[in-house]
Amino acid sequence: MNNFTFQNTTKIIFGKGNESTVGSEVSKYSKKVLLHYGGGSIKKSGLYDKVVNSLKEAGVEYIELGGVKPNPRLSLIYEGIDLCRKNDIDFILAVGGGSVIDSAKGIAVGVLYDGDVWDLYTRKGSTEKALPIGTILTIPAAGSESSGSSVVTKEEGQLKRDIGYDFIKPQFSILNPELCSTLPPYQVACGAADIMAHIMERYFTNTPNVELTDRLSEATLLTVINNIPRVLEDLNDYDAFAEVMWAGTIAHNGLLGTGRQEDWSSHKIEHELSGIYDIAHGAGLAIVFPAWMKYVYKTNVDRFVQFAVRVWKVEQDFANPEKTVLEGIARMEDFFRSIGLPVRLSEAGITDDRFEEMAQKAIDAVEEDSFGSFRELKKEDIVNIYKLAK
Ligand code: NZQ
Ligand code: ZN
Repeated sequence: MNNFTFQNTTKIIFGKGNESTVGSEVSKYSKKVLLHYGGGSIKKSGLYDKVVNSLKEAGVEYIELGGVKPNPRLSLIYEGIDLCRKNDIDFILAVGGGSVIDSAKGIAVGVLYDGDVWDLYTRKGSTEKALPIGTILTIPAAGSESSGSSVVTKEEGQLKRDIGYDFIKPQFSILNPELCSTLPPYQVACGAADIMAHIMERYFTNTPNVELTDRLSEATLLTVINNIPRVLEDLNDYDAFAEVMWAGTIAHNGLLGTGRQEDWSSHKIEHELSGIYDIAHGAGLAIVFPAWMKYVYKTNVDRFVQFAVRVWKVEQDFANPEKTVLEGIARMEDFFRSIGLPVRLSEAGITDDRFEEMAQKAIDAVEEDSFGSFRELKKEDIVNIYKLAK
């Protein structure tokens, strides 16, 4: 196990009805906030009214900025920064999914940054401060509710880039699984793929002697695999959604990566897909991850055998470990398909070939000529992975 420091400071307020406490939580930080949300799901579900009432009761003034799109856009972040500066706002409340939370984080760093916030996403600039944010999460997926990342798309050039700072972790996140019952089933499935991907980016490591985090990761994966079909059968299944929602946070709050080297290649490869084609991040991952696995498994066959046996319950073929590995990957693909996700680019309607361009953009984003720690990938490897995903 490698040395590590683990600190996750986000207060998680989990369970039924907790959204009504948002006003009193926010009032610990501010009396004037930006209320940030997406395309309207919170108005349809009635959550918006509850939030507004709770803020009013707590004497918190708010200015609203809705309209965050999935794969959040830089232009709205500029708008949010302007609003906050003009109105002396010092706290951002994000109500929605990963896109709303990431947009809120972009605004939070941008307000206090003396320059173009996009420079932070391209590593041209750096910062050490942000306004505090709080969240009410409405979809288990991105893990942004307790992560230090924000992923944003600049419309011009279709560039999807991220930042990572500990100080943009939300101060608090309210997770009520009841709020998930209005989700479209496809979004639930995309969220499941993203949660699983966050675990797998950490699971596939060459760091030896990491049994505890291996087993925690396997348990979290199994929890998602067992409960997602239940949720899809009945979106009002509170207990099943509760398992998935908490798994989504655990998957990305840093715990499962402690003491081990993480990879994150599949995310980098996927970001170019959702940047260009605007497909849901989770759907992109359901396509990229199996292709990445097929391309890299020979680097550490034992680890892939463990994954196949412990997570996908493949009977181990001792004489032919590769057969076990490939069966594990096939079962993962079957699972994704069974919940309605594409596992090939063609299944997502992507039939043109912009692989060279996407691979170059992925490489440019890291400003080196390769990435990946489980297996180092250069541009030609990334092109090959896109080809395997055709
Ligand atoms: O915009 P509204 O109307 O709210 O609708 C949203 C959106 O259309 C809808 N939705 C959310 N909760 C709902 C609901 N509809 C009905 N009922 C509800 N309860 O779902 C759609 C998708 O929302 P989005 O926020 O885009 O989903 P998700 O949470 O999957 O976030 C995806 C974004 O997060 C980034 C991704 O790249 C992507 O841009 N990621 C962020 C990470 C982070 N900050 O740590 C890590 C991840 O790896 C990921 O990259
Ligand atoms: Zn993700």
